Amino acid sequence: MKIIPWQENRINDVVELWNKEIGADFPLRVELCKQNSFEDSNICLKSSCIALNGQDEIIGFVIAKRWQENINVNMDDTRGWIQALLVAKPYRQQGIGSTLLEHAESQLKDIGVKQILLGKDTYHYFPGIPKQYEDVAEWFETKGYENFGTEYDLIRHYDLEDGMSVPKMAEVEFTTLSINDKEEFLTFLNRCFPGRWEYEAIHYFQKGGTGREFVVLKKGRRIIGFCRINDAKSPLIAQNVYWAPLVDEELGGVGPLGVDAKERGQGYGLAIVEAGIAFLRQRGIERIVIDWTGLVDFYKRLGYDIWKGYLSYKKEL
Ligand SMILES: CC(C)(COP(=O)(O)OP(=O)(O)OC[C@H]1O[C@@H](n2cnc3c(N)ncnc32)[C@H](O)[C@@H]1OP(=O)(O)O)[C@@H](O)C(=O)NCCC(=O)NCCS
Repeated sequence: MKIIPWQENRINDVVELWNKEIGADFPLRVELCKQNSFEDSNICLKSSCIALNGQDEIIGFVIAKRWQENINVNMDDTRGWIQALLVAKPYRQQGIGSTLLEHAESQLKDIGVKQILLGKDTYHYFPGIPKQYEDVAEWFETKGYENFGTEYDLIRHYDLEDGMSVPKMAEVEFTTLSINDKEEFLTFLNRCFPGRWEYEAIHYFQKGGTGREFVVLKKGRRIIGFCRINDAKSPLIAQNVYWAPLVDEELGGVGPLGVDAKERGQGYGLAIVEAGIAFLRQRGIERIVIDWTGLVDFYKRLGYDIWKGYLSYKKEL
């Protein structure tokens, strides 16, 4: 086996290996691989690498990240992530996965990482180990990783006129975000949801987002809640539509979303999800995914069922 650096000229091989191994559950598109595993500035090039066999064919890879961006959001640079680790089936049980993981971990440690998460990275694929890969979870446990919960992707199909109407409530309105309200919206996120959701919104605008992917809840003229909505026209491939090739209809996505802590408990949370769904439905979306959530009962009220589950894992170095 030979280890070579993580490099984009191998992208087609990476995607081919991924799809051969786990493509039936998580079909990877080249554009998505490029976006999440090559263009993200948090990729740690020293920790990520590719394994080749004697014929120069790719037989495995590991992709690791650490927060490196120069944006003032609340992200922790002592946390590292393993975005993905994969070894081709015929080459398993030969120590290749262990070698790749040890390589990634030791390089992350060298640059000051104190805790590693599996998935949950910036431009992640997974918020944990997919639940159906129990053997993978067991393998990581032998490497010192600890489970700390389960996250879910939920899904629902809509018929005909279902889910089309935006809720009406006294004193508040639901609209898609006007680009003129961008600064006010970012200020709202910074105040109420600092960190990852704010970071993702900043990236969305940097990539040319115009506001159509955010529904905002306004009381008077103040933004008090938000809900992200995504479809194939979004300026980047958003997390809730990553696995769109698995379904026949065009897939839409809802989330993240939140309501100002001072305004919770008045029905706004559920209503903003309904508003997000209605805007997607009016754009012709028939199937919607709500990704990376633990709030299964909350979304069940709107008819959502579990689609995929993920086990959260971390390791303190
Ligand atoms: C989740 C959140 C949006 C709910 O907002 P909210 O305005 O308080 O919710 P609502 O008032 O619309 O709640 C409607 C119903 O859902 C229930 N509910 C609210 N939060 C819930 C939760 N976390 N889990 C389960 N049920 C919940 C409420 O009890 C209420 O039930 P009732 O009709 O029987 O009284 C809000 O708590 C929030 O912003 N949290 C932080 C961000 C977050 O976690 N977002 C979701 C990420 S997937």
